[in-house]
Amino acid sequence: MPSFVHAGTQWALKHMPLTTAAVEETAPLLAGRRLAMCLHVEPKTAALVTLLARAGVEVTLTGSPGTTHDDVADALRALGVRVHTRRADDDAAHARNVVQVLECEPDLTLDNGADLTLSLLGSGAPAGYLGGTEETTTGGVRLREKSVGHPVVVINDSRLKLLVENEFGVGQSVVQGFLNATNLMVPGMRAAVLGYGPCGKGVADTLARLGARVSVCDTDPMRALQAILDGHRVGPAPEVLAGAQAVFTATGAPGVLGEAELAALSDGAVVAGVGHFAWEIDADALRAATVRTVEYGEPGRRTGHVLAGGREVVILDRGRMLNLTAANGNSIQAMDLGLTLQVRSLAAVAAGGLATGVQPVPGPVEQRIAADLVARLR
Ligand SMILES: NC(=O)c1ccc[n+]([C@@H]2O[C@H](COP(=O)([O-])OP(=O)(O)OC[C@H]3O[C@@H](n4cnc5c(N)ncnc54)[C@H](O)[C@@H]3O)[C@@H](O)[C@H]2O)c1
Repeated sequence: MPSFVHAGTQWALKHMPLTTAAVEETAPLLAGRRLAMCLHVEPKTAALVTLLARAGVEVTLTGSPGTTHDDVADALRALGVRVHTRRADDDAAHARNVVQVLECEPDLTLDNGADLTLSLLGSGAPAGYLGGTEETTTGGVRLREKSVGHPVVVINDSRLKLLVENEFGVGQSVVQGFLNATNLMVPGMRAAVLGYGPCGKGVADTLARLGARVSVCDTDPMRALQAILDGHRVGPAPEVLAGAQAVFTATGAPGVLGEAELAALSDGAVVAGVGHFAWEIDADALRAATVRTVEYGEPGRRTGHVLAGGREVVILDRGRMLNLTAANGNSIQAMDLGLTLQVRSLAAVAAGGLATGVQPVPGPVEQRIAADLVARLR
């Protein structure tokens, strides 16, 4: 195999000791397997794919709409990895990519959002399929709606991942994306965060530490209470949205920013997506409320929607995950942890012995990685 020359990936690899060790240790279980994979195609993913390919895993890869780094995808192709994704892909192109990836007849899947796994199971899994992993909360919810006859480990159910990646990783990188996309000042800014799970909490806390005045809406009273105890203002969506200069959608749920919420937004409010799908903004309600649009720069980057009455709401990167579209995704160390959970969970699936169905990361796997991380960080 040619050596990997993509500089960003080399930098990531240098800071991913846990993933490197996990691939080395589990190679006897994973080598020779066909792995169908869907993960944001950017340097940390490329680092994982490079390690797996070097360990003898046959990886076929796609990404998510709008987040692919084309230079990274090309560099992986040069390594001999089959990569079916382009940054310009829309949802229809993504669906075609998923079909192409599954043509490898995988033994294992590593998914992000459940498109790949649902498509594989919907069309009948190949005889040798053992099961797989799912990265996200949203994907886990979609999979739990089906009866899944293979083990699928939901990485996001790991307390370790929720703490390190969703809370601290997403908090930092979403705010970084917001700064990159807007060049606006955070100290003193009035920000609203919809959803106070680990991702919303991470964003809200990071903004507050930088001096923003943060209001939070969460429909779960336990989460709303947590936000109050963390020092944020809390209220129903229309109340927290009124007066907000920046709005972060972190619920993972569709249509959260609908007709009533759009009506509550102030003139000039900037909306940033955090949740996995851009569906948190109700596209039909936005279209119905929009009189005309204004592009501030490259189309889709900062789209002003002028609403009846003249107020303007600016949507960043079409509501897609801003830490991926306008920054470098989560920090390398946060992803080192998440990708280690992926590798060791895939190895557990490959080893057999897991029950069928959607399940959390096996306890011993999580404890082992937490101990390794503590040993490295202390
Ligand atoms: N951008 C990234 O890099 C990244 C990383 C990890 C996860 N995610 C995604 O971020 C989203 C949130 O992840 P999480 O782990 O925090 O999930 P979570 O499910 O723990 O938290 C979501 C919160 O939103 C609340 N909520 C749901 N509907 C609501 C509504 N209508 N109004 C207000 N609150 C509402 C829920 O009560 C919950 O507390 C998911 O879509 C996940 O896939 C993104």
